[in-house]
Amino acid sequence: MGWLQILLGTLVIFVSISSLYTFYSAGFFLHKEDICHHFYGVQDVYDGFDIRSLSERVEEVLNKMENLQEKLEKTVQQMEKNKGELQRTTIPGLEYKKFLEEEVIRPLYIAHISLRQIRLPKFEGIGNSTMKEEPLINAFLTEEIRKYITPKDNRFEKVNIYGTEKIHNTIGHTCVLMKKELEEYMDYDIGSYCKDDWNLAQKLMVYGCDPLPRRRCLTRASKVYQKPYPINESLWKLPDDRNVRWSNYQCRDFACLSSKNLKRGFSKCTGCFEMEKEQLKWVNNSSLPVDFLIKDILAIKPGEIRIGIDFGVGTGTFAARMRELNVTIISTALNLGAPFSETIALRGLIPLYATLNQRLPFFDNTMDLIHTTGFMDGWIDFMLMDFILFDWDRILRAGGLLWIDRFFCQKKDLDDYMYMFLQFRYKKHKWAIAPKSKDVVFLSAVLEKPPRGI
Ligand SMILES: *[C@@H]1O[C@H](CO)[C@@H](O)[C@H](O)[C@H]1NC(C)=O
Ligand SMILES: *[C@@H]1O[C@H](CO)[C@@H](O)[C@H](O)[C@H]1NC(C)=O
Ligand SMILES: *[C@@H]1O[C@H](CO)[C@@H](O)[C@H](O)[C@H]1NC(C)=O
Ligand SMILES: *[C@@H]1O[C@H](CO)[C@@H](O)[C@H](O)[C@H]1NC(C)=O
Ligand SMILES: *[C@@H]1O[C@H](CO)[C@@H](O)[C@H](O)[C@H]1NC(C)=O
Repeated sequence: MGWLQILLGTLVIFVSISSLYTFYSAGFFLHKEDICHHFYGVQDVYDGFDIRSLSERVEEVLNKMENLQEKLEKTVQQMEKNKGELQRTTIPGLEYKKFLEEEVIRPLYIAHISLRQIRLPKFEGIGNSTMKEEPLINAFLTEEIRKYITPKDNRFEKVNIYGTEKIHNTIGHTCVLMKKELEEYMDYDIGSYCKDDWNLAQKLMVYGCDPLPRRRCLTRASKVYQKPYPINESLWKLPDDRNVRWSNYQCRDFACLSSKNLKRGFSKCTGCFEMEKEQLKWVNNSSLPVDFLIKDILAIKPGEIRIGIDFGVGTGTFAARMRELNVTIISTALNLGAPFSETIALRGLIPLYATLNQRLPFFDNTMDLIHTTGFMDGWIDFMLMDFILFDWDRILRAGGLLWIDRFFCQKKDLDDYMYMFLQFRYKKHKWAIAPKSKDVVFLSAVLEKPPRGI
């Protein structure tokens, strides 16, 4: 009797698969025949809906069901072979139950859930209809990502403070390429502790899955956090080791981050954790003409430079010096092998955890100063650099200063880079070039953005 059920089940599954397949190939899920023929072609997005992931999800369910069918058929064939034996012996009930649970019900359940997870485009709105589903919804299986990216309608069908009817939580489109990592990142129990996985998050970010989704788990923190030093001490003192979670770094304390330690775990900004060295930066005359002093730069615009951004890799020393001069500087920081962000914050300065991938989160014409050092150099693609420079130009106010500090590149590339800096027709206050090695040169410049008409 039980085996009859299995047989019937197989039949049902077979019928479902074939009907699903018929619908699928007839373009039932789509609205245009021709897109069907281009399933994997250029037209991956149908009116803002991700057809490719939709078809991938359907494919997945079909495969699951096909496997199940094969397995069941094999079982039946096996039984056919052992017909005689079957009549003599009866299968123990428990074994039979186990078989049903593991080999039939569970795969069916998974296929069922996958089918349920597929979301088809729905239209809404009056006049120009807009897509209700987030286009990437079928690209992800983890429920938390799907919840995150699904647009959230305002309550009471009202328009919110931004003048929009809903909020779209965004993720970088590259997240689709990093599906496995992102699903690992978003796999947690809501409300419990997150894994200590900031390095996974950073990997996602630097590979372009940026912005990342927010998470609903609790970030781990130091058990023995000490209150930070007062600002008159914190600016030039390495923080307390206990205020950093070290588990994902090669080092386990600040002393280990010294440039003398070859196993410190990072290569950019090697002496940045030695405060005696840091204290000389931008205040002591150096032998190189490309090293300008802060006081000379501020003297270009006395009293006018109040806020700015330091785009680079470091521990916030530029911002610390500027703070002493009552200038507020935001320092970009990624934790590339060392706790740069934590160090800047513990010094009492503002770390901006931002990658190169993104438009800077500042409005047009707002910054008095952009300083950049130790970060952009000859490795950078010209086109990428152009987009970055235009973004910097956007946020710099008229009369604001762009301080390019020790940019370096191959001597042969210098002309191209110089053109990039000069294309904005800024006023040249300082401009210096010095050899770094035989083929590599340093360029430093201080340029002022002119007012623009209209
Ligand atoms: C629909 O969009 C088009 C352009 O995208 C626009 O010209 C038209 O006015 C819109 N119609 C409505 C009803 O909003
Ligand atoms: C920092 O300021 C506090 C009070 O404001 C003072 O007691 C302390 O001595 C100062 N520390 C230094 C190193 O100047
Ligand atoms: C740097 O050099 C200039 C002249 O070259 C001098 O006036 C100034 O005092 C020096 N500053 C420091 C900090 O040594
Ligand atoms: C930095 O400048 C001071 C004078 O302001 C001088 O005494 C000191 O030797 C300089 N340090 C270095 C490393 O050049
Ligand atoms: C910074 O501001 C404080 C308080 O307004 C003032 O006492 C100090 O002289 C200022 N420092 C500089 C270098 O302007």
